[in-house]
Amino acid sequence: MYRSHTCGELTASHINTEVTLAGWVQKTRDKGFMIWVDVRDRYGITQLIFDEKRTDTSVFEKAKTLGREFVIQVKGTVIERESKNPNMPTGEIEILVSELNILNEAMLPPFTIEDETDGGEDIRMKYRYLDIRRNPVKNNLLFRHKVSMEVRKYLSDKGFCDIETPYLIKSTPEGARDFVVPSRMNEGQFYALPQSPQTFKQLLMVGGMDKYFQIVKCFRDEDLRADRQPEFTQIDCEMAFVEQEDILDMFEGLTRHLLKEIKGIEVDKFPRITYDYAMKTYGNDKPDIRFEMKFGELNAVAQHKDFGVFNSAELVVGIAAPGCASYTRKEIDALIEWVKRPQIGASGMVYVKCEEDGSFKSSVDKFYDQEDLKKWAEATQAKAGDLILVLSGNADKTRTQLSALRMEVATRLGLRKSDEFAPLWVVDFPLLEWDEESGRYHAMHHPFTSPKPEDIELIETHPGKVRANAYDMVLNGNEIGGGSIRIHDRALQSRMFDLLGFSKEEAQAQFGFLMNAFEFGAPPHGGLAFGLDRLVSILGGQETIRDFIAFPKNNSGRDVMIDAPSKIDTKQLEELHIKLK
Ligand code: AMO
Repeated sequence: MYRSHTCGELTASHINTEVTLAGWVQKTRDKGFMIWVDVRDRYGITQLIFDEKRTDTSVFEKAKTLGREFVIQVKGTVIERESKNPNMPTGEIEILVSELNILNEAMLPPFTIEDETDGGEDIRMKYRYLDIRRNPVKNNLLFRHKVSMEVRKYLSDKGFCDIETPYLIKSTPEGARDFVVPSRMNEGQFYALPQSPQTFKQLLMVGGMDKYFQIVKCFRDEDLRADRQPEFTQIDCEMAFVEQEDILDMFEGLTRHLLKEIKGIEVDKFPRITYDYAMKTYGNDKPDIRFEMKFGELNAVAQHKDFGVFNSAELVVGIAAPGCASYTRKEIDALIEWVKRPQIGASGMVYVKCEEDGSFKSSVDKFYDQEDLKKWAEATQAKAGDLILVLSGNADKTRTQLSALRMEVATRLGLRKSDEFAPLWVVDFPLLEWDEESGRYHAMHHPFTSPKPEDIELIETHPGKVRANAYDMVLNGNEIGGGSIRIHDRALQSRMFDLLGFSKEEAQAQFGFLMNAFEFGAPPHGGLAFGLDRLVSILGGQETIRDFIAFPKNNSGRDVMIDAPSKIDTKQLEELHIKLK
């Protein structure tokens, strides 16, 4: 038996017990006649004591050789500590060691393995296994486990069946590039790693497995950001014989369950807003509604008043930053500089201070009188003490810029509180979006998403106006899940492929298997997928998903620990029929 207890569980109730512990040396304090060693495992830290008077000399001498991160096993007696540490669960006791076994020596770690480490991101990624010994990383992994167990429990209780789908597949078009895998046995042919199990879960519905889920790896070769990894995990779900309402109910239930079980928070029914409303009111389709600052459109009250910049703009739009009328010139200038950065790209910003006495002071007082500015305050729902920030220009771009400014101001004001959770549904997404580069429509969600029946007739005449039975779940400004009701009719699916610019042959070659399946009694079905990494990190109060993944990739898509991707040898290339230039 390597250990009788873990390093996190011994308390005063164990005093006088003989125990065996195993773990890593966190630190040693050698006072000459007395040596204290902190031994750590996944469960905590326990203090060991080696006393020249009470400990066998050979054991005492061996203790002197211990270095950081040595792996040891000790036997000893639990005794009461002289100076107790109330901040540690094991702080009342220590182990008077009688036997010490060095199971493995360790090199000096390249960074200190403590909550606050001196190691930078790069070095910690290279030695990720050491980073995992640190509480912040370890706790994130344990937290992730807890979330995924709750997910499994909830879905299994609701009758969902966990079914695995293949990783070596044919590409599913979901917007990103595929990672491909050459086939040795089929010269010149490639598998694709799934961007999601989308088509398979639909085929499972045709197969009669009417409630499916899978916690599954997905692969997308896209540019990386804090909330994106090339391989990430979805909680992928699909149901048959359902309407949109059933799906929203089911997965709202799951999220509510997680918030309650994991965070102890009860949330009311999730608000639902349409995509159009989200874009007009928050400038994006994943609004953070923990705070207000809704957009107020000002065209009607700000144009035709001799201010050329606004007169020539497609959209003039503002937000009211709460309590910011007291901002100094310097603070306002900093915000103006912020919106003018190339990443945001605004050409300037107009502001109005709503003074406590009900008057207004603006950067455009030359063009607007108090009555005009009062109307701006009404449109942006500004109160006395607020600062109205106004941008103008091309409608889409300006909304995007103001949305970024809204988030920035909220961050500066501390309104994005990590212990507050504001979930919502965004519904009625457009079915299609125009892609300038290719000069044609693309499916906004994916090509299997069904149009709203009442909009089907617009498909031929106004494709851009057709709304889809598609929905996203948004939590604290992040898209944590998305899905749709699917097309289950061959004729409509084939019409959809036409619209997306696939020839009959291309559609048959790529999706023949799905359209054929639709001829064998496909039930009405729909589903959604959550991004598990995102869900876990937001529930954990953070937004960088890397911190919740055991072995993540860096921003260039590299695993710096195993040094992947890497070259392969010529023989391997030949077997795969690949010639490099
Ligand atoms: P979608 O593409 O919206 O839908 O993906 C579902 C959810 O997965 C998460 N996600 C990611 N997380 C981390 N890194 C990434 N690169 C990444 N890309 C997506 C997001 C997103 O909401 N098959 C459909 C679902 C369906 O229709 O049922 C799909 O994959 O949180």
